[in-house]
Amino acid sequence: MRHLMNPLDFSVEELDNLMDLAKDIEANPKKYAHACEGKKLATLFYEPSTRTRLSHEAAMINLGGSVLGFSSADSSSASKGESVADTIRVISCFADICAMRHPKEGAAMVASQHATIPVINAGDGANQHPTQTMLDLYSIYKTQGTLENLNIFMVGDLKYGRTVHSLLQAMSHFNPTFHFISPKELEMPQAYKLFLDKLHIPYYEHSELDDVINDADILYMTRVQRERFADPLEYEKVKNVYILKNSMLAGTKDTMRILHPLPRVNEIDEDVDDNKKAYYFQQALNGVFTRQAIIFKTLGLKW
Ligand code: CP
Repeated sequence: MRHLMNPLDFSVEELDNLMDLAKDIEANPKKYAHACEGKKLATLFYEPSTRTRLSHEAAMINLGGSVLGFSSADSSSASKGESVADTIRVISCFADICAMRHPKEGAAMVASQHATIPVINAGDGANQHPTQTMLDLYSIYKTQGTLENLNIFMVGDLKYGRTVHSLLQAMSHFNPTFHFISPKELEMPQAYKLFLDKLHIPYYEHSELDDVINDADILYMTRVQRERFADPLEYEKVKNVYILKNSMLAGTKDTMRILHPLPRVNEIDEDVDDNKKAYYFQQALNGVFTRQAIIFKTLGLKW
């Protein structure tokens, strides 16, 4: 049994193996249709979600297992004051594996310390979102043919966006060059920049989106995370800071692909959706294959 808290929980070899498994699952879905027969996945979502919860559930159903869970703290006994530690002790009696999303950083880690089943961190506050990263890696690998030596441009809310924190750490294995495009208020936290400095991984910071993206292999757009702002006026100041438009893509590489963890608010204009460089909806589909692979691995199944 193992947990998934952070993308660094997986070595490079394990990441490669996970990508190969996701690829095999995508190519041969029937081969895995009974892999989790008799097993149950609990989805414990204390925060809203569309993709992460439903794609974990689709993934378990595709593997022949079943699902149970709650989709908001209000509909669980957390609303009566039950702790995460007590909840997970009980869920461990009902299910074989669980995926947890929580607004507090470290909540999934607390759960893992009290669980007797594997815990998958499905997003903890502004900290980490490792299953999103696995599907991002799979999407990058599928579109670029490699994870090595890529120019990764991250745009938007780099302070509160947990997906970029997790992706930065996972890509650090593969000799990337990073470009961070954000307003000052939402820049990449110092801890992640120090992480890159220690590994001698280059990164460049920009405040403008136009004109700097032509070298990008991956343009990773993010939403400004309204729910993490203590002051709504601060959110209002930065909410429309970058809007990617089709006209901005003219000088970009033919092989460049635009990723976004979704949901989108208005940071990608809808006129981009029909551009062949827009990959965010296929990226969401990749989440099902990747989460099948994650469930398979964290349950310790062999393939
Ligand atoms: N990408 C992502 O985490 O989407 P949801 O919030 O809909 O799960």
